[in-house]
Amino acid sequence: MTELKPDYKNWIPKGMIALFAAGAAVSAAAYAGVSLLMNDEQKAMKSGLKILSAAAGIGCAAAAGWCLYGYHQFSYDGKRKLSKQIIEGTASYVNIPKGGKGLDVGCGSGALTIACAKRNPHAKMIGIDPWGPVYASFNKERCEANAKAEGVTNTEFKKGNAIVLDFPDESFDAVVSNYVYHNISGHNKQDLLKESLRVLKKGGTFAIHDIMSRERYGDMEKFVNELKDEGYEDVQLIRTDRGLFMSKAEALCMFLTGSALLTGKK
Ligand SMILES: C[S@@+](CC[C@H](N)C(=O)[O-])C[C@H]1O[C@@H](n2cnc3c(N)ncnc32)[C@H](O)[C@@H]1O
Repeated sequence: MTELKPDYKNWIPKGMIALFAAGAAVSAAAYAGVSLLMNDEQKAMKSGLKILSAAAGIGCAAAAGWCLYGYHQFSYDGKRKLSKQIIEGTASYVNIPKGGKGLDVGCGSGALTIACAKRNPHAKMIGIDPWGPVYASFNKERCEANAKAEGVTNTEFKKGNAIVLDFPDESFDAVVSNYVYHNISGHNKQDLLKESLRVLKKGGTFAIHDIMSRERYGDMEKFVNELKDEGYEDVQLIRTDRGLFMSKAEALCMFLTGSALLTGKK
């Protein structure tokens, strides 16, 4: 009998690495073609095309190299297991009462939903995601297969969108999310946070991890103070790019500077 093994895929899709590698190969072929086939009478055009193909080749090769490095850093099968550390670190902030319900906004391949379900076996975790073409290897079936492989039965996965959550106010005892809102362009990130907190019950806990840099999220210290003024308790904005989940250097290399965990109780 083949043993079931979860496959959480990778935040850097293999297709992206292949695309940049193909771009580098095509550019190299174009450079060689121009060098060999164009005659010197078209000198200006020839050197222009050579510069262009060389620049495209170097750019694509550098991007492919970075993606490959990131892929190994994030991989659940690699040495560093950065995704696993972030997921488990975020899940460690989540406590759901017996018989309660938690929501994972943007569950991807189900990693955080399942990690929270494992830590809270007497509660139910629901993971929602629109599962679009950008993260093409993430889908509902992948989430369900991962839950099965992990031997977890207290999860449910559905299509949904962080912009407008299809749940009434105060439906959940916990709300979690990891690296989702920064992907949602054209929407105020603090409004997205408020929408997630809308569905949290009074007394419920939240642990939301993302790249909360000022350029993306605006003034988060002010946001934290607003939550406290509304009666939220133990609200903390914890930087995770200074050693908690990753080192400062790692965050810089992985374009994750500004990563922070917003946690507390409604
Ligand atoms: C970097 S992945 C993280 C997945 C998962 N949270 C994890 O930690 O493995 C980003 C996820 O955000 C999801 N996403 C993008 N736009 C979304 C939206 N409007 N609402 C909910 N999820 C969204 C993507 O489909 C993708 O699964």
